[in-house]
Amino acid sequence: MKKLLHIIATPRADESRTLKVSAEFLKAFQAQPPGWIIDELNLTGAQLPSLTVQRVNGKYALLSGRELQGEMKKSWDEVIRYIEQFLSADVYLISAPMWNFSIPYTLKHYIDVILQPKYLFRYTAAGPEGLVKNKKMTVITSRGGDYSGAMRPFDFAEPYLRAAFGFVGIKDITFINAQPMDMGQETQEKQIEIARKAARENANSILAGTAAQFSG
Ligand SMILES: Cc1cc2nc3c(=O)[nH]c(=O)nc-3n(C[C@H](O)[C@H](O)[C@H](O)COP(=O)(O)O)c2cc1C
Repeated sequence: MKKLLHIIATPRADESRTLKVSAEFLKAFQAQPPGWIIDELNLTGAQLPSLTVQRVNGKYALLSGRELQGEMKKSWDEVIRYIEQFLSADVYLISAPMWNFSIPYTLKHYIDVILQPKYLFRYTAAGPEGLVKNKKMTVITSRGGDYSGAMRPFDFAEPYLRAAFGFVGIKDITFINAQPMDMGQETQEKQIEIARKAARENANSILAGTAAQFSG
């Protein structure tokens, strides 16, 4: 069985424009025989572990090639659980609205938890090496404004997510940005429809690609 991990970074549930677009992506995966496991991580209320001094010290231990031990190791149990869930997926879907030109803090928190040396990347003599290989990611965002033209330099969400996940080896990342969402109902509905079509096509293209990959 292959796995899609859906990471949700909006608290708005049924009200969410982002999730309206993501629903179309998910529909394609749900319809796919023999079936994919769809794992959902809703970051709202997920109780992600805080980056306490002990957990942060664990990161420095790993960076210097030491093993986690004793209390430090215990404090990492939750961190490892999120890392293992992340690594167990073949395909990622991130649903995230733009918040203050970037991503919601819950998603930044999640990235700070899982991007750990030894697990997602390592430093070699040739420089950093991403350890998350052969995975695909789709990021579905919605934004109040439109950042496809003159406002593009204000979009820190897409470059940041490409940098963070690219650093750990995920290079095949598609962005589907529904925008503008807060400039009238008619425009909103039209742009959601355009994004839903793009989401459906992207999901079907990933499914076609992974089917070929898994059948050899
Ligand atoms: C805290 C917060 C910050 C926001 N910051 C921005 C922003 O910087 N730029 C923008 O265009 N829209 C911004 N918005 C608007 C949302 O991106 C937009 O309404 C989006 O469609 C919400 O997605 P959702 O319905 O999936 O939660 C912000 C909304 C909130 C709640």
